[in-house]
Amino acid sequence: MFFASDNWAGAHPAINERLMRESTRFAAAYGTSALDQAIEKRFNEIFERDVAVFFVATGTAANSLALASLAKPGGVAFCHAEAHVIEDECGAPDFFSGMRMSPVDGALGKMDPKQLTSRIARYPQDAVHHGRATAVSMTQATEVGTIYTLDEIEQIARISHDHGLPLHMDGARFANALVQLDATPAEMTWKRGVDVLSFGGTKNGCWCAEAIVFFDPAMAKELPFIRKRSAQLFSKSRFIAAQFEAYLQDDLWLNLASHANSMADRLRGGLAASNSARVAWPTSSNEVFAVIPKDTAKAAQDKGAKFYDWLEPHDMAEPVQGHEQLIRLVTSFATEKEDVDAFLDVIAAG
Ligand SMILES: Cc1ncc(COP(=O)(O)O)c(C=O)c1O
Repeated sequence: MFFASDNWAGAHPAINERLMRESTRFAAAYGTSALDQAIEKRFNEIFERDVAVFFVATGTAANSLALASLAKPGGVAFCHAEAHVIEDECGAPDFFSGMRMSPVDGALGKMDPKQLTSRIARYPQDAVHHGRATAVSMTQATEVGTIYTLDEIEQIARISHDHGLPLHMDGARFANALVQLDATPAEMTWKRGVDVLSFGGTKNGCWCAEAIVFFDPAMAKELPFIRKRSAQLFSKSRFIAAQFEAYLQDDLWLNLASHANSMADRLRGGLAASNSARVAWPTSSNEVFAVIPKDTAKAAQDKGAKFYDWLEPHDMAEPVQGHEQLIRLVTSFATEKEDVDAFLDVIAAG
């Protein structure tokens, strides 16, 4: 009953097998091997255009270095108030980019377009004292399990571009959002105005594979140097490439994300039908937020269930009562139906 996070899961056997094969041969280092180059090209096919791709180890590195590549002195980058880049990366985006993250409100983890516009207006380009608006970062799927529709992405992109700001997308759970929207990678990104993407693989079956993808390679000129100075240029970069080769082959990545999402559907369905729990807000990716009695949470943990408590957002429709607890449940490519059903049984038993 592992629902703490999708990065608690192991790695998919096809990815492990590819890593094993890679480990038996010699190849050029620092991203110069034929495999690195082939997989960079594979991203062109996935995104239906020429992109510039940089492999890094963590989602935090992908976000931080992507933002660093967009930075200006005195820069301010806008993101949702609960975004991972502002709440959960220990200031790494600020540290690597030299910018400040500025929080934008919005229901259900999505930036409200009006709030974004008024936040940007606080930083006029010529007002040296406040700092200057420089970039926007959105998360897809969001940190609270919701998904921006394609039109919502375009709306955020339009506001960003109207102010001359590039748009970054944190895609730690890119595949989960993609399969849910039934969109192509191009449709969920550059066709709707995304300029730079953090493309996550680790949460969806890789061992450790993340990539920064620039849809206009001209914007990536500084990234090789930014990545090296941030100690993210791996000598054995080909092991990230190998993971992505298996990940992107025969739609494995999409199938794994569909599985994770369907396990979340099963969990949501069971919680919604339960007398001893309620779904905290509607989600549609592989994250489910539930309100359960504190005693039930303790009993579930005693029986081995793993999940995190979650801070109550200020705009929750039905607030958490004193005897209750808000919890986050995350499913993954490795979640099995039996895990979900066992958890639902434990919740039902109280
Ligand atoms: C939305 C989001 N972005 C980025 C990250 C960062 O990933 P990592 O822990 O690999 O740095 C996470 C990890 O939980 C995440 O949930």
